Amino acid sequence: MKVQRINSESILKLIPKLAALLQDSVASGASIGFLPPLTDEEADNYWHGVAEALKTPHRILLVAEVEQQIVGTVQLALESRPNGSHRAEIMKLMVHTSMRGNGIAHSLMKAVESEASRAGRSTLILDTREGDPSEHLYSKLGYTRAGAIPEYARSADGNLHSTVVMYKLLGD
Ligand SMILES: CC(C)(COP(=O)(O)OP(=O)(O)OC[C@H]1O[C@@H](n2cnc3c(N)ncnc32)[C@H](O)[C@@H]1OP(=O)(O)O)[C@@H](O)C(=O)NCCC(=O)NCCS
Repeated sequence: MKVQRINSESILKLIPKLAALLQDSVASGASIGFLPPLTDEEADNYWHGVAEALKTPHRILLVAEVEQQIVGTVQLALESRPNGSHRAEIMKLMVHTSMRGNGIAHSLMKAVESEASRAGRSTLILDTREGDPSEHLYSKLGYTRAGAIPEYARSADGNLHSTVVMYKLLGD
């Protein structure tokens, strides 16, 4: 498995694969901004938006590949406001359902933390649905729970769920 950084040009040929990965995660009930069923068009539009963001210095995209298949991805949003030039948000971590439990998310998180360090970002923030496997993963990786916001996002079953906000100070 290799993790690599994707730029605004190289993402274009990967969009169909990335869209399929996003659809797989959304269909599995993940809380990553969308509700199932996620159409091809919605998934494509999302990744074209990421391609635009990659043209700026404020977004980093990593993908995990196994035998030339994209099996996971994560993004880093680098804060652009002057008082947050040391801060970044980790977003849209997802691993294909068929490849979960193999340490791929762990590798993506370590790689994205290295990218953050290289970019001079030491305060990392993220949020996740309370009680999801991701909350356990982030805790194991040293992220501290800042708090939970009740009724933050809607799940596929229609219920509103709590979102946990977490942070990690890379300097610590
Ligand atoms: C969260 C997610 C990225 C984890 O990916 P993964 O590649 O399976 O995770 P890893 O194999 O690297 O596992 C990392 C840790 O999480 C734990 N973990 C993974 N899946 C788990 C599960 N279903 N239940 C409990 N723990 C789980 C692993 O056991 C491991 O901890 P350990 O070292 O103590 O064993 C994956 O489940 C996913 O894509 N979920 C849907 C998208 C999502 O919710 N993303 C988070 C957005 S904030």
